[in-house]
Amino acid sequence: GERPPLGAPIPEREWLRFRLAVVAAIEQFTAVLGDWFLAADGLDRAHADEVMLDLLRWHGAEEVEHRSVAFDMYQHCGGTGTPRYARRVAGMAVTAPVMLYLWVWGTAYLMRHDPQLTGSRLRYSYAEHNRAVHKGLLPAWRELGAAIPRYLRRSYHPSQEGSLSRALEYLRRSQASRAAS
Ligand SMILES: [Fe+2]
Repeated sequence: GERPPLGAPIPEREWLRFRLAVVAAIEQFTAVLGDWFLAADGLDRAHADEVMLDLLRWHGAEEVEHRSVAFDMYQHCGGTGTPRYARRVAGMAVTAPVMLYLWVWGTAYLMRHDPQLTGSRLRYSYAEHNRAVHKGLLPAWRELGAAIPRYLRRSYHPSQEGSLSRALEYLRRSQASRAAS
């Protein structure tokens, strides 16, 4: 939000920089996930709904395509040296658990409200997630977790994440983007 929580006495500029650090950390996950969905042929094998799959991959490609924007902005506005790096780490320390929570909560919510699953005993769980990983329908926790230490490297830059050429190629052939243009 516009103001720090609980009226914390954080100067306005610093609060802006911190929020930018949070967005840059979120973009690390969206880039990793976006790249994963572009390459996930398990989703084709599962005959996922074509329009939804195109929407998911289009969004994934778009996330890979703009993966450096927030980070570059953060590097530009976040000052120099150790304070900038420490704030980047703090941004990830807040983001990673929140993303995990949203993932678990969001997936459980979608499964609970999926008319095709209503009445079935299928519920989102660690074991269910791993079964989906096995079928190539979801990335492994290990794969998602590995995105964190990469992000914390001092030499990190989002351009090292995923494949830009694969993303651009998908944006060219996506049915939705072709229809829109
Ligand atoms: Fe994004």
